[in-house]
Amino acid sequence: MNDARTNWPHLGREDLESHWLPFTDNKTFKNDPRLVVRGDGVYLWNQRGERLIDGCSGLFTCALGHCRPEIAEAVAGQLSELDFMTSFLRSHPRSFEAANRLTEILPDALDYVFFCNSGSEAVDTAMKMSLQYHLARGEGQRNLFVSRERAYHGVNLGGTALSGMVRNRQAFGALAPGVVHMRATWDPDQRFTRGQPERGAELADDLDRHVRTYGADRIAACFVEPIAGSTGVLVPPVGYLQRLRDICDQHGILLVLDEVITGFGRTGSAFAADSFDVRPDMLTVAKALTNGAQPMGAVAVSDDIYDTIVNASPDDAVEFAHGYTFSAHPAACAAAVATLEIYRRERIFERGAAMANTFLDAMFSLQNLPAVTDIRGYGMLAGIDVEPDGAPGLRGLRLQRRLFDAGLHIKTTGDAAIVAPPLVAEEEHIDAMRGILHDTLKEV
Ligand SMILES: Cc1ncc(COP(=O)(O)O)c(C=O)c1O
Repeated sequence: MNDARTNWPHLGREDLESHWLPFTDNKTFKNDPRLVVRGDGVYLWNQRGERLIDGCSGLFTCALGHCRPEIAEAVAGQLSELDFMTSFLRSHPRSFEAANRLTEILPDALDYVFFCNSGSEAVDTAMKMSLQYHLARGEGQRNLFVSRERAYHGVNLGGTALSGMVRNRQAFGALAPGVVHMRATWDPDQRFTRGQPERGAELADDLDRHVRTYGADRIAACFVEPIAGSTGVLVPPVGYLQRLRDICDQHGILLVLDEVITGFGRTGSAFAADSFDVRPDMLTVAKALTNGAQPMGAVAVSDDIYDTIVNASPDDAVEFAHGYTFSAHPAACAAAVATLEIYRRERIFERGAAMANTFLDAMFSLQNLPAVTDIRGYGMLAGIDVEPDGAPGLRGLRLQRRLFDAGLHIKTTGDAAIVAPPLVAEEEHIDAMRGILHDTLKEV
């Protein structure tokens, strides 16, 4: 049955040439394209009208599923009332509403929100805020950052330097200087651990090693994803994040949690900071902030950071010389307000938490398939590693294509499949995802 409402004209090979797709093997894609023309709830439809299930919430964006009418209406209404206004020396009411709504669910003491347009921009913004915060306190010599191997913090130059995934770095030269990496928390002994590994908290002492190597007074901030998402879902060992927090406190280092994937209910609470009970100084978000309906990112900061930077500046001077033309775009703010309202009204984070066991049962039931070498998972987020076949990543790519053709959209990174269903997914949707994964993993 052709379920696609929109009748797209056939796109020939020549129509696909001009768009250079990001993070894509363009040559292969253009010869064998996979296009999606419609979304509704947890479903998508490809250009042939075949239905797929969305096992990755778009790209960790659509926690509510696709095309929620309230969000579309809020964006359309905003665009016909006020389509654009800069937030440089002016703004518009919706930006304050969006910030206020967000602070209602952010961890305590993160009372200020700076808007940008993506996770990458949020990360680079947080780096610059860290530097200026220390400068304002008379510690401008703190200009080093600590990050982690296998981290993903977006693709701008700062975030790429923080990242610890070789393919994302190796073509781009020296990147931003002054970034050192801790070890990743994954260990082969942890294979098939569901939830947090019991052992490994001591890996946080890598931060202490950097303190001893570079000097406690040189490090501005430590950036971590609470769960390293894009690298394949590496769940932090019990006590690891608390230990990082303690070391940061001892040495005046800011702790930045990058919650671009883990934010908005993915781990069973509003933020992973709540799920893992760790207090960040800054927290970066994007993706599900607008349910993917508009590009938007944000950095939430503590009162101390905001007050320190703002109060260090003389009156009538711009305090933080940073911002984007589209910071707090009215349509993005309208989408965020509508999304946050649905999260609250429909208790979406609780709903995701209630489905997490069913989801993790389904994912871990795949562990005996021969191709599967590890499964990790927490909340509504799971990573499945397949044994490499030839060059690293080839099998993962093949898996991702075959899953799509079999009716399941997910993300793969290298040889890891990452599954993150919409938080509104029901048991039948989880079963359907599991079925397609099972049959495809058997043959890939
Ligand atoms: C933890 C983390 N930080 C930053 C980013 C970059 O976000 P964006 O692609 O919106 O720039 C991502 C994207 O997946 C991410 O997972």
